[in-house]
Amino acid sequence: MDTKKIQLAVLFGGRSGEHEVSLMSATSVLSVLDNERYDITPIGITEDGVWLTGEDILQKMQNRNYASLTRVTLLPNPGDSSLYQIEDIDGKQTLSPVTALDVIFPVLHGTFGEDGTLQGYLEICDIAYVGAGVLGASVAMDKGLFKDIMRQYQFPVLNYTVVTRTMIENNPNNTIHEAEMVSDYPLFIKPANLGSSVGITKCYNRSDLYEGLHFAALYDRRVIIEQGINAREIEISVLGNEDPKASVPGEIVPAEDFYSYDAKYVNDNSELVIPARISEETIEELRILAVEIYKAIDCAGMARVDFLFDKESNRYYVCEVNTIPGFTNISMYPKLWDASGLPYASLIDELIKLALERKAQKDNTEHKFRSNA
Ligand SMILES: Nc1ncnc2c1ncn2[C@@H]1O[C@H](COP(=O)(O)OP(=O)(O)O)[C@@H](O)[C@H]1O
Ligand SMILES: [Mg+2]
Repeated sequence: MDTKKIQLAVLFGGRSGEHEVSLMSATSVLSVLDNERYDITPIGITEDGVWLTGEDILQKMQNRNYASLTRVTLLPNPGDSSLYQIEDIDGKQTLSPVTALDVIFPVLHGTFGEDGTLQGYLEICDIAYVGAGVLGASVAMDKGLFKDIMRQYQFPVLNYTVVTRTMIENNPNNTIHEAEMVSDYPLFIKPANLGSSVGITKCYNRSDLYEGLHFAALYDRRVIIEQGINAREIEISVLGNEDPKASVPGEIVPAEDFYSYDAKYVNDNSELVIPARISEETIEELRILAVEIYKAIDCAGMARVDFLFDKESNRYYVCEVNTIPGFTNISMYPKLWDASGLPYASLIDELIKLALERKAQKDNTEHKFRSNA
């Protein structure tokens, strides 16, 4: 029955260095969603932040051919979950409701999608959405603050420090001194709030470091400097709200010196090994740790927890958490669930169910207070 269908909007594209990656993820998600179960509105967000829908939207977004698409928006009015169409009639912009949405699946990576900003807007709109809320999303997004919290829990992290763009620009010598205190070379320099390895440099000497700091500062006000190791990369998928579960671990064998943007998306020689070839004992430790990390930063729905294994010492370190991990059908997050017995399409159904459950739980929170005095 049509009336029982879940009204679902899938968001993709977005104002982020990972715009293209999001289009790839959304292509896979949209191709498996069950039309019997969902009424689907695909919404593409341009690199300038304009929300659009219409026929063949994915292809048009890929070609940046926006002319025939319709502008849409959500209003920040709790109780009104309508998607509105924005029309230009005689030079006047008018809004008309298109459909009342039950849930949104943001298939958006990086800034303005995975970092808590969109989540904040959806909270204001009072609408259910897949994945972490404002807190989990924003903490996972900032590699510096995230590591501060990991340290607080005494979870293993490599040495690091965070510097600001202003420090790099106004005081490069002091910044280099601070960076060299972190550890010997190589050092990894990263924008604190980004993903897909955009803006990251592996620095082997002071001149790399000088360049790497300025390069990372192009992409963020905050830059993290990390001790670099010769690493194996082990990842675990976590799924759930209050009682999250961990998948089997997988290993990435990058095609280049490290898992750079090109190794991730351009050169397809990087390999995923599932399950990762590590001891049963370490697998169990990591699965428990992945769930603890997920809970520590208040994740919900899903997240991929990434670890670095030092090839020399065989010790492991928490690298980062991605609250909206790559989601093509050959991406690690869904592949790990597939290997753990949950196929791609069922995983998406589960995520939508978790989003609706979490919203129902939030609706039990009292927001008004009147003193009896
Ligand atoms: N401290 C480190 N030591 C060794 N390799 C690292 C280190 N930090 C990052 N890398 C490499 O760089 C890649 C990207 O870093 P990561 O922190 O995961 O950022 P992103 O959010 O862009 O994926 C990792 O997958 C790994 O290959
Ligand atoms: Mg990463």
